[in-house]
Amino acid sequence: MEKEVVVSGIRPTGFLHLGNYFGAMRNYVRMQDDFNCYFFVANWHSLTTHPDTRELKNSVYRVIAENIACGLDPQKVAFYVQSDIPEIAELYLYLNMLSYKGELEKTVTFKEKVRLQPENVNAGLLTYPVLQAADIIIQRAVKVPVGKDQEQHLEMARNFADRFNYRYGDVFPLPYAFNYGDELIRIMGLDGNGKMSKSENQNATIYLADDDELIRKKIMKAKTDQGPETPDSVKPDYIQNLFTMMKLVSSADTLAKFEADFNASSQGNCIIRYGDMKKQLAEDMVQFVKPIREKAADLLANPDELHRIIKQGADKGRARASETLTMVRNAVGLNY
Ligand code: TYM
Repeated sequence: MEKEVVVSGIRPTGFLHLGNYFGAMRNYVRMQDDFNCYFFVANWHSLTTHPDTRELKNSVYRVIAENIACGLDPQKVAFYVQSDIPEIAELYLYLNMLSYKGELEKTVTFKEKVRLQPENVNAGLLTYPVLQAADIIIQRAVKVPVGKDQEQHLEMARNFADRFNYRYGDVFPLPYAFNYGDELIRIMGLDGNGKMSKSENQNATIYLADDDELIRKKIMKAKTDQGPETPDSVKPDYIQNLFTMMKLVSSADTLAKFEADFNASSQGNCIIRYGDMKKQLAEDMVQFVKPIREKAADLLANPDELHRIIKQGADKGRARASETLTMVRNAVGLNY
């Protein structure tokens, strides 16, 4: 049986962090053996918010290196840079004719970006979800491993694919956001404000390149409170976030101990010690990040090898993309 096709991308707009890892990259690594995977660095997308390209090449290389350091194997998957696949741009053009100003203006990420960069509300920003749809359906993907923040973009990608099929004939399967487990993941910043992010809120974000001391410092400063008022309380989101991280990097026993302490705590009888919990989490996080950081640094010291990997990825990525584009041109009737 043919393996299902998977696509996902990461923007090279800064250093990768735990949110990227647990929302996306961890799934890439798990999926690479069972699916036909296409992963890429979304450098065109980064131009919508980062027009200054002086750091772009370094960032692209870093994203490649950090993904490989996390266990992604470029022999098993197609791992490419978006701008090496011109077929995406052509498909984006056709999809742009099928997407409407009203729906694009309503996109949550667009409204957020308008607020953050009112001086640069460019057309690329407006049509960002159209380009993302083209990235996905150019490989005729059905599964897209992403974090929770990408849910709306995936819904839009499905709409655009469906609209194309309806108008020109069935070319595309419909893609869905994917995570192992039931829910898409959202890692919050350590200060309890919003999600962990590449370019905002750096003290509340654990980067895969952070050194041991910095990781300890950031985690020890994470937001906590006086403890729960009643036994078996619902955890506030910033406390839940610490438990989520602990579940990801600590042993099951460690997690179970702090869960039990939390559930047994109440006002006047606070058993859980957030200071101890953060110390433990910090040590486990250091152990988790260290090998990734070191392997990425080794890879980055060998740009020729990274260049070879990027070129190999482009060939793999273009093979299926050009097949799709022929189907698209035939469907639209652009085959003279
Ligand atoms: P980007 O570059 O912002 O993030 C890359 C991946 O990391 C996930 N992620 C998170 N998951 C959980 N918690 C967080 N705090 C967190 N922060 C980031 C994102 O959900 C994403 O999976 N538009 C995309 C890039 C893109 C793309 C695509 C993705 C372009 N084309 C096609 C999938 C398919 C983005 O900005 O991701």
